[in-house]
Amino acid sequence: MDTYILGIESSCDETAASVVKNGREVLSNVINTQIDIHKKYGGVVPEIASRKHIENIDAVIDEALLQAGKTLDDIDAIAVTNGPGLVGALLVGVSEAKAMAYAKGLPLVPVHHIRGHITANFLAHKDLEPPFVCLVASGGHSHIVNVKSYTDFEVLGRTRDDAAGEAFDKIARVLGLGYPGGPLVDKLAKEGNPKAIDFPRVKMDKDSLDFSFSGVKTAVINYTHKLEQNGEEINRADVAASFQDAVTDALCEHTIEGAKRVGAKTVAIAGGVAANSNLREKMTKECEKHGISVVYPPPVLCTDNAAMIAAAGYYSYMEGVRADLDLNAIPNLPL
Ligand code: KG4
Ligand code: ZN
Repeated sequence: MDTYILGIESSCDETAASVVKNGREVLSNVINTQIDIHKKYGGVVPEIASRKHIENIDAVIDEALLQAGKTLDDIDAIAVTNGPGLVGALLVGVSEAKAMAYAKGLPLVPVHHIRGHITANFLAHKDLEPPFVCLVASGGHSHIVNVKSYTDFEVLGRTRDDAAGEAFDKIARVLGLGYPGGPLVDKLAKEGNPKAIDFPRVKMDKDSLDFSFSGVKTAVINYTHKLEQNGEEINRADVAASFQDAVTDALCEHTIEGAKRVGAKTVAIAGGVAANSNLREKMTKECEKHGISVVYPPPVLCTDNAAMIAAAGYYSYMEGVRADLDLNAIPNLPL
């Protein structure tokens, strides 16, 4: 018998709902992004995000059911992101999911946002099965995860300061590119020389797979300030390309090291930064040298969406994971 999960995601600035069949087949993937609203503030304003989620969530869910050709009577369970994320934003999705589960007598399945990002790879690659090592790099997180099974995840490394996406967003601001910065830096970097400026690649103690991106961020800021003070022209494309090269070097190196340590034959990438063209190319090329294959989702499944939440919810649902109606939003939920 087929299993249909309705996924709901509202952890940051995307209100999203999706229906996924058997954890692998996306029947609908509706995303209402608030980017244009937050753009003028240069980043997500939590209060505004919560309010917009409230305004949009009903219509987004209706649309997801409509596009899937399903009604709530066809749905087997409701999966919802309950952390990590902005607490007010998370609460909108969690409250909505609880209300629907109660009204329809449906099981409620809590989903960790990062597990959702990882699971996006199962939607994009129908034959992909654990174990594999996954790099999750988004606006709020940078983790190297050993995906031992569909529901058993071990963190091998993480950022000690900024997330990779956060660094992209900050550098975009320094270069006057706008928000969100990742895609804009990615685009501008294509016109620049990645070896033009030697920005630092921070190495932690030799056994650690952790990242640090605050050093490269500060180096870029100092570099541009110095040129500005001297009245010299900044080659923004070279700065973007050299910064991106430093970040993707670290992401690739640590992920491959993680894969080698646990003997993984496959590396996956996930999260908003997984949409980065340089990261995709470099990871594919570098992994090839080590006989490791690489998978990644299409960009729409890299950035925040509810299909990944429905898919992760499916695997938890099949294992019997259920939440009661006292389910809460947890802003710093551990993986
Ligand atoms: O996964 P996501 O949508 O939200 C979080 O869970 O944080 O990731 C958003 C982050 C932003 O920092 C954005 O700048 C970054 O992903 N991003 C990119 C690219 N597309 C999105 N970073 C680098 N290159 C891209 N092409
Ligand atoms: Zn995310």
